[in-house]
Amino acid sequence: MEFLLDTANIQQIKKYNEIYKVTGVTSNPTIISREKSEFFPTLYKIKEIIGDKQLHVQVTGSICEEMVKEAETIVKNIDKKVYIKVPTNEEGIKTMKVLKDSGYNVTATAIYTPQQAIMAASVGVDYAAPYFNRMCNNNYNAPEAIAQMAKMYKMYNKSTKLLAASFKNTNQIMQALLSGAEAITASPELYSMMFESPLITSAIEKFSEDWAELYGDKKIYEL
Ligand code: G3P
Repeated sequence: MEFLLDTANIQQIKKYNEIYKVTGVTSNPTIISREKSEFFPTLYKIKEIIGDKQLHVQVTGSICEEMVKEAETIVKNIDKKVYIKVPTNEEGIKTMKVLKDSGYNVTATAIYTPQQAIMAASVGVDYAAPYFNRMCNNNYNAPEAIAQMAKMYKMYNKSTKLLAASFKNTNQIMQALLSGAEAITASPELYSMMFESPLITSAIEKFSEDWAELYGDKKIYEL
C-alpha cells in the first residue's frame, strides 16, 4: 500500500511528508499551474524536500515526439528516477512504449476505463492512474472499474500498479483501496480528513482529562 501527495505546494509537501510515510509526490499541469511559480524551480524545491522518494511529472505535448522530448528534458533537469506521467490515449501509449523501451519510469494517467488500464500495462508502465472522482462525475462505476483493472493485472501477471487519483472525499479513497488500488495519490487535506471526527476528538480529550486529574499538566517523562 502506497500513499502519495497530489500537490506541488511546497509548504504542504514539507508538512505532510513529515506526518505520513509518503511514497512520493504526483503533479500534473493543473496542479503546477495552481502554484503560480516556475515549472523547474518548483520541481527542484519538491525534490529537495522528498529526496529519493518518487516524483511523478506529467508531459504536456500531444504527439509522441513532443512528449518524448519533454520526458528527456525533465529527466535531464531532475534525474532518471522521475516518473514521467503520460495521458492514456493512442499517442500516449506510443509514447509510453518508447519511454519504457528507453528505461524511463512511466505513469499512465487520465485513466477512466479498464481498457485504457490494460493497454497501458501492455507496454509495461510502472503505474496506471484511474481518476476515481472524475469517473463518478461521468457516471462510470469507479469501484467496479478499478476492481476490473486489478483483476486483469492479476490474471495477466502485470507488474503495473494501480495508482488511484482524483478524489473528493475519504470514502472514495477507501473504495479505491478496497477495489484493489495498490497506491493512492490525494491532496493533503483529504489525508487530514481521515482523522476529522468528533468521536476521535472526544476520546482524546477524555484521556487528557483523566490524566490531568492524576498529574495535572505533567507528562510521563516528568514523573
Ligand atoms: O492526479 C490526477 C488528479 O490530480 C486529478 O484530480 O481532482 O483534477 O480530478 P482532479
